[in-house]
Amino acid sequence: MNNGKKVNLEDVKNYYRTKIYLEKANEYLGVIGYTEHGERHARLTAKVAYNIMHCLGYGEHASELAAIAGYLHDIGNVVHRDYHSQSSAFIASEILYELGMPCEDVVEIMAAVGNHEEQIGDPISIVTSAVILADKADVHRSRVRTTAMIKFDIHDRVNYAARRSTIEVNEKNKSISLNITIDTKISQVMEYFEIFLSRMMICRRAAKFLNCTFNLIINEIRLL
Ligand SMILES: [Fe+2]
Ligand SMILES: [Fe+2]
Repeated sequence: MNNGKKVNLEDVKNYYRTKIYLEKANEYLGVIGYTEHGERHARLTAKVAYNIMHCLGYGEHASELAAIAGYLHDIGNVVHRDYHSQSSAFIASEILYELGMPCEDVVEIMAAVGNHEEQIGDPISIVTSAVILADKADVHRSRVRTTAMIKFDIHDRVNYAARRSTIEVNEKNKSISLNITIDTKISQVMEYFEIFLSRMMICRRAAKFLNCTFNLIINEIRLL
């Protein structure tokens, strides 16, 4: 039975609770030294997840669900960094039910949000796979809050070195490519692998779920 109403990404973005949760989640993560996880990261993940779905021909409704899941995926950091994918899923469900979303769509989003982290998540659905790829693609210098720790913190250093990071979907060849430009004066490509290898593994599995191969291209060299 589907007795909810159609909820789109704009409704979710503009909902006052979404704004407060996201702002606070980002603020608290800043206190413990994490990179930016606020409105910028949410917006970008939503946009990329939507594009992946759309390019692969999954249709408007499923693409919109991926966008909403992408927007809400890190909101649980407001509770704690640990298991934030689970808390994000429950907070997302609360918000989406309040907005009147049908249960079938909420469930789809909960699963995608709850599985987005490589330590405890798996690409268990189409929407989940799109969100995983979109989230892991966001490596960029604008996420670094202060350059003070770049010498000492490998996450800050690698993010700061990333000048460009894009996902390209080739529907014909059935391939998804993560294309990154790293300033090797700031961080070596090896450092990227040091911290992101497990992320690349889940990206490969997510692409496979979407019946695509996964390519990693850094500084125009294909590494995966
Ligand atoms: Fe996350
Ligand atoms: Fe994220």
